[in-house]
Amino acid sequence: MSFFLLLLFLSLFRPSSSSSDTLSASQRIRDGDVLVSGGGQFAFGFFTPGNSGSRFLGIWYAAIPVQTVVWVANRENPLNDTSGVLSVDFQGNLVLRSGNGSSLLWSTNVSLPLVPSSSSPMVRLLDSGNLVLYENVDGNFIRWQSFDYPTNIHLPSMRFGFNKTSGLHWSFTSWRSYDDPRPGNCTYKIDTTGYPQAVIYKDGTPHFRVGSWTGSRWSGIQEMDHSYILRVNFTNDEDEISFTFRTINASFTTILELNNTGTIQPLNWVNQSRMWVPLYTGPSDPCDYYNQCGPNSNCDPDMNNMCSCLPGFEPKSPTNWYLRDTTDGCIRKKGVSICQSGEGFMKIPNLKIPDTSVAIVDLSLSLRECDQACLNNCSCMAYASAIDLGAGSGCLMWHGDLNDSKTFSGAGQDLYVRVDVALLDRQSKNKINVILSVVVVMVLILSVSFALIIKRRRAAATDNFSIANRLGQGGFGTVYKGVMSDGTEIAVKRLSELSGQGDEEFRNEANLIAKLQHRNLVKMLGFCLQDDEKILIYEYLPNRSLDTFLFDESKKLVLNWRKRFDIATGIARGLVYLHQDSRLKIIHRDLKASNILLDATMDPKIADFGMAKMCGGDQNEGKTRRVVGTYGYMSPEYAMGGLFSVKSDVYSFGVLLLEIISGKKVSSYYDEDSFTGLVGHVWKLWEEGRCMEIVDDSMELDDACSREEVLRCLQIGLLCVQELTTERPEMSSVLFMMSNDFCLPLPNQPAYITRGDGIMLGNNARIGPDIYADPASVNEVTTSTVLGR
Ligand SMILES: *[C@@H]1O[C@H](CO)[C@@H](O)[C@H](O)[C@H]1NC(C)=O
Ligand SMILES: *[C@@H]1O[C@H](CO)[C@@H](O)[C@H](O)[C@H]1NC(C)=O
Ligand SMILES: *[C@@H]1O[C@H](CO)[C@@H](O)[C@H](O)[C@H]1NC(C)=O
Ligand SMILES: *[C@@H]1O[C@H](CO)[C@@H](O)[C@H](O)[C@H]1NC(C)=O
Ligand SMILES: *[C@@H]1O[C@H](CO)[C@@H](O)[C@H](O)[C@H]1NC(C)=O
Ligand SMILES: *[C@@H]1O[C@H](CO)[C@@H](O)[C@H](O)[C@H]1NC(C)=O
Ligand SMILES: *[C@@H]1O[C@H](CO)[C@@H](O)[C@H](O)[C@H]1NC(C)=O
Ligand SMILES: *[C@@H]1O[C@H](CO)[C@@H](O)[C@H](O)[C@H]1NC(C)=O
Ligand SMILES: *[C@@H]1O[C@H](CO)[C@@H](O)[C@H](O)[C@H]1NC(C)=O
Ligand SMILES: *[C@@H]1O[C@H](CO)[C@@H](O)[C@H](O)[C@H]1NC(C)=O
Ligand SMILES: *[C@@H]1O[C@H](CO)[C@@H](O)[C@H](O)[C@H]1NC(C)=O
Repeated sequence: MSFFLLLLFLSLFRPSSSSSDTLSASQRIRDGDVLVSGGGQFAFGFFTPGNSGSRFLGIWYAAIPVQTVVWVANRENPLNDTSGVLSVDFQGNLVLRSGNGSSLLWSTNVSLPLVPSSSSPMVRLLDSGNLVLYENVDGNFIRWQSFDYPTNIHLPSMRFGFNKTSGLHWSFTSWRSYDDPRPGNCTYKIDTTGYPQAVIYKDGTPHFRVGSWTGSRWSGIQEMDHSYILRVNFTNDEDEISFTFRTINASFTTILELNNTGTIQPLNWVNQSRMWVPLYTGPSDPCDYYNQCGPNSNCDPDMNNMCSCLPGFEPKSPTNWYLRDTTDGCIRKKGVSICQSGEGFMKIPNLKIPDTSVAIVDLSLSLRECDQACLNNCSCMAYASAIDLGAGSGCLMWHGDLNDSKTFSGAGQDLYVRVDVALLDRQSKNKINVILSVVVVMVLILSVSFALIIKRRRAAATDNFSIANRLGQGGFGTVYKGVMSDGTEIAVKRLSELSGQGDEEFRNEANLIAKLQHRNLVKMLGFCLQDDEKILIYEYLPNRSLDTFLFDESKKLVLNWRKRFDIATGIARGLVYLHQDSRLKIIHRDLKASNILLDATMDPKIADFGMAKMCGGDQNEGKTRRVVGTYGYMSPEYAMGGLFSVKSDVYSFGVLLLEIISGKKVSSYYDEDSFTGLVGHVWKLWEEGRCMEIVDDSMELDDACSREEVLRCLQIGLLCVQELTTERPEMSSVLFMMSNDFCLPLPNQPAYITRGDGIMLGNNARIGPDIYADPASVNEVTTSTVLGR
C-alpha cells in the first residue's frame, strides 16, 4: 500500500493524532498512527523498510511517492511486530516500548530535569523534517530534536559538524543495507583535530576524506558548485563547527545521503521522473580512497600511473612501487638536505591538500607570511592557504608526512612543498633551458621526423613562455605562441609539470598523433621531451578557436550561415577521418567549440588530442573509470557510466552543431523555467514546430534554401544527441546527411542528462539543471537511488 493511501486510511480512522503534527504528553503513537508536518512535507510513524520484516519508528517524506526515510529512532532495536508504542514518560522523555510496555526500545534520554510547574512536554514534527520535543506546550524551550541525532540523511537546515560546547557530533551513520536501517559500517563526521575536515570512515578508518572547508566547498569535492540549486553555509566559531545547506527555491527537494557503501551524494527529487537523481558522488575515482598512494605521494586519476612521489621524494619500496603496490608511499631522497640556506618551495597546483588533521593552523597569516613561517622552521614540510578564495588566506603547515593528496582536473588548491637547493635550481634552470632550446631544437625536430632530440644550446633568450604569449589553457597544459628561427609561427603546448605521463607513453602518443594528416585536424609539427618537461608543437592558427567567434556578439557576425555550414561539415570530415579513415581508430572525447581552431580562411581544424583514446582495429567501445571531458558535450552513457565509443563523439558533435546554429553556449545555457538545457530547449521547440526560433539572430537567412538547410542541420543535431547510441548516426552518415538532400529519420526525445553519478560541475563548466528528461530516459542511464524501501 502506498503511503498516500496509508495516510488517507489513517486519517479517516484515527482522527486523534494522525492528521496532526503534534503529540501532547497525554497522547501516544501506536503502530498505524502518523504525525504529518504542517505543510504535509514529512510524516512520522512506524514503517517497514523494503523487504525487511521489521518495524521501525521514523520520519519519511510524505509528499514523495517513493519511500524516502530520513530519520529512524529505534535503529538499534527493530520491532518484530506492530506492538510498538511511543509516549512521553514522566521525566519528559520520548520513549518507545514494545508489547505490553515491557521492553524499552528507544528513548530520547534527556537528562535535564523538567521544570515542575510546566511539566507538560509536547512533540511536534516540523516542515523541515525535524521532530522536536519541547519543554512545554508553548513550544519555547527545546529539550531534544531529531536534527541533533541524524541517521544517514542530511536534510536542508540540519547541521553537520560539532558542537564545541556540548561535545555533540552532528554526524551520519549509514544503514546496513537499503532495507536495514540498523547502523552500518560507514560514518560521516567532522574530524576536529588539526584543521577541521569532513571524513567518511568505514569500519572506523578513514575511507574518503571529504576534506577541509576551502571557503566555498570541501577540498576533496571539486564539483561542489551547485549554487543554482543549493546555498551552503560553513561556520567555525567558538561555539560550533557546522555545515548546513538549503535549496535556493522551496520547490526543490534536495537531501544528502550517506549510503551503505560509504558514498555521499546530494540527491535531487525529480518529480517528473519520480526518482532521486544524484548531483555528484564521492568517492568518485580511485584517488578518492584515503591515502591511495601512501605517504608523501600524490594521486592523479587522469594518469596511467596514478601515483607519483612528491618532489624530492622517492618510493620507499621501489620494487613494490613499480609493481603498483604503493601502500608504503614515498620517503625523502637520500642525501637531500632541505634545510640549509637558499632552499625554498615548489608549488604543486590543483590539489586536494593533504590530510589536515596534522596541520598547524594560523588563520591570521597571509600566504606570504605562511611561506616565511614555514621557511623559518626546518621541520615544516609544506604549506597551503586554508581558505581558497581570492588570493587565499590563512595558513596551514605540515610538519610530518603529507598524506592523501590528489590532483583535480579543474579545481584545487596550491600546495607548496619544501625542496632542496638542487631541486629548486633545477626547477628554474630547467625552464630556462627548455625555453632556450625549443627554438633551436624545433628546426632539428622538423627535419629528423619526430625523433627525440634535445640539444642544450644557448640561444638568445626568448620569452616564449610568457603570459603575453599564452594562447589558452587546458586541463593538461598551457598553449603558447612561439616563433621559429625562420619566422614561422607555431603553437607550443607545454604539458603541465604534473601531467605524470611516462616518457615512453608520451613519445608513443606524440608519434601516433604526428601521423594523423587531414586538412581538418591541427597538424602536429614535433615535440620535445626533457626531464619533466614535455612540449608539443603545433601549427599556429591565427584565428584561434570557434568559440571566440561563435559566442562573441560582434565577432559572430563574421559567421554567416554558409560559413557556419562549412565549418560544421569540416568538423564532420575531420571526425570521419579520426573514426574511420586513419589507420588508427581515434575517439577524440573532448570535442567542443574551444577545441575547433580556425585557420586564416576560417577552415576548421580539430585540436587537442590530450584526452583522445586510440582503439584497436575492431575495438569500438571502451570503459573508463575516470570521466574526462566537458559537461554539456558529454553523452550520458559516457558521463554516467564511463562508456565511450565513436558515438560519444557523435553526441558531442550534435551539441556542437546546435551551438553553431543557435550561437548559444551549451555550458552557459540555462532555461530557468523549463529546467532544460540547450538540447532540451531545441527539442521542445522542435516538437512544437517552432524550431527556427533557436536560430542565431545574427545570421540573416536570406533565402528559403538556407532556411531548409538550417532545419536539416537542426534535425541532424537532434539525431546525434539521441539517447540510444544505436539511434545516433555514424559520423560518415552525418556527413552524408549534411551534404545530400534526402528524407531524414525523425529524431526521438534526445538525452540531455548532464549530471549524475560522478559528474562534476566546476566553475567553468556550469550548466543548468537539465537532467530532467522523461522518466524512461532517466531510468535508462542512472542507477536509481532508492532510499530504503
Ligand atoms: C525480535 O526478534 C529477535 C530475534 O527473534 C529478537 O532477538 C529481538 O529481541 C526481537 N525484538 C523485539 C523488540 O521483540
Ligand atoms: C503481553 O501480555 C500478555 C498477557 O498479559 C502476554 O501473553 C504477552 O506475552 C505479552 N507480550 C509481550 C510482548 O510481552
Ligand atoms: C542514557 O544516557 C546515559 C548517559 O547519559 C547512558 O548511560 C544510558 O545508557 C542512556 N540510556 C539509553 C536508553 O540510551
Ligand atoms: C551546543 O550545545 C550547547 C550546550 O548543550 C547548547 O546550549 C547550544 O544550543 C548547542 N548549539 C547548537 C547550535 O545546537
Ligand atoms: C562491516 O564490516 C565488517 C568487518 O569489516 C564486515 O564483516 C561486515 O560485513 C560489514 N558490514 C556491512 C553491513 O557492510
Ligand atoms: C551560517 O550559519 C551560522 C551559524 O549557524 C549563522 O549564524 C549564519 O547567519 C549563517 N549564515 C548565513 C549566510 O546563512
Ligand atoms: C521556484 O521554482 C518554481 C518552479 O520551478 C518557479 O515557478 C518559481 O518561480 C521559483 N521561485 C523562485 C523564487 O525562483
Ligand atoms: C551507494 O552509492 C553508490 C554510488 O552511487 C552506488 O553504486 C551503490 O549502489 C549505492 N548503494 C546502495 C545500496 O544504494
Ligand atoms: C509531481 O508529479 C505528480 C504526477 O506525477 C503531480 O500530480 C504533482 O502535482 C507533481 N508535484 C509537483 C510538486 O510538481
Ligand atoms: C617548528 O615547528 C614545530 C611544530 O610547530 C615546533 O614544535 C618547533 O618548536 C618549531 N621549531 C622552531 C625552531 O621554531
Ligand atoms: C600517513 O599515513 C601513514 C600510513 O598510511 C600513517 O602511518 C601515518 O600515521 C599518516 N600520517 C599522518 C600525518 O597522517
